Amino acid sequence: MIQLEQIHKSYRVDGRDIPALKGIDLNIAAGEIFGIIGHSGAGKSTLIRLLNLLERPSAGQIRIDGDDITALDGAGLRSLRQQVGMIFQHFNLLGSKTVARNIAFPLEIAGQLGRAAIDARVDELLELVGLTEHKHKYPAQLSGGQKQRVGIARALANRPKVLLCDEATSALDPQTTQSVLQLLAKINRELNLTIVLITHEMDVIRSICDRVAVIDGGKIVEMGPVTQVFLHPRHATTQRFVSEAEHIDEAAQADAFAHVPGKIVRMTFIGETTFEGFLGNAAREFNIDFSILSGRIERIKDTPCGQMLLAFTGEEAAVAAAFAQFRSRGIDIEELR
Ligand SMILES: Nc1ncnc2c1ncn2[C@@H]1O[C@H](COP(=O)(O)OP(=O)(O)O)[C@@H](O)[C@H]1O
Ligand SMILES: [Mg+2]
Repeated sequence: MIQLEQIHKSYRVDGRDIPALKGIDLNIAAGEIFGIIGHSGAGKSTLIRLLNLLERPSAGQIRIDGDDITALDGAGLRSLRQQVGMIFQHFNLLGSKTVARNIAFPLEIAGQLGRAAIDARVDELLELVGLTEHKHKYPAQLSGGQKQRVGIARALANRPKVLLCDEATSALDPQTTQSVLQLLAKINRELNLTIVLITHEMDVIRSICDRVAVIDGGKIVEMGPVTQVFLHPRHATTQRFVSEAEHIDEAAQADAFAHVPGKIVRMTFIGETTFEGFLGNAAREFNIDFSILSGRIERIKDTPCGQMLLAFTGEEAAVAAAFAQFRSRGIDIEELR
């Protein structure tokens, strides 16, 4: 639904062109939640702002539903902005307007509905984001999470096909972050809305995204399903995000297990919940032994998955045969030592 081809973007600073994006290729499918993660200055905001032409690319093509959006004229641009909603880190609400009037604002600008129809649509949106009782309050009377719910309702007012989220939960505490993310997931499911979000937080990606791109220095360095990218990070930037989020210090781990005998492996399973049971079975079948050095079982979006560090002892051929059996059951094994 959204296609970026060889997108470059430079900013002109003191008479010089400073590159912010250097050849981005991206395909986002209708109905997915696509996350873009990167450190500060990586080019995330630049990238997401290209999708509704808040910024224009210096080179390359952006197509939404097949149409090259950089070729749009004034009327086309207005229609694009209605089809592509956006929410922001600092909410960008109008402080002088009530919650209801903030949400009504884009409908008034679009000019397609009369007063009664606008009011009805606002009530519907308030219900959707759970703010019906706060309808007549002003932004200053709301919590951060409530403000972002107003931002979401406002962004959805004109029934967009795509919702862009620029660090939408970065100003919120962890609990509020989760409730806003769950609201976004619900909207994605119920309205089949395509969501593109950018963040510097792994937990945001892990909670609700289907696919993720890792951006560093204006380039996408890694991209794929969230399970794959987070369980098997290949690029150093991705590895750093994962180890920061998991509080894993690989070097310290290697030291801690220096005295442990046997073959040390990292096993990864996705969507498999009877892991420990058949580890035990395999130990008996092949007459080998194992100890679990560390492990974590979690969910990535709706998929249970886990990763464990294990040490196997026993005859080399028997251990190898057990590994072959694990692999045949879809478990990934990386031999670390
Ligand atoms: N309006 C601008 N003018 C000049 N440079 C900019 C502008 N916006 C962003 N940049 C630069 O482009 C790079 C990418 O910025 P940005 O897209 O905001 O990254 P992120 O959102 O990942 O922090 C940074 O080096 C930033 O300084
Ligand atoms: Mg930014």
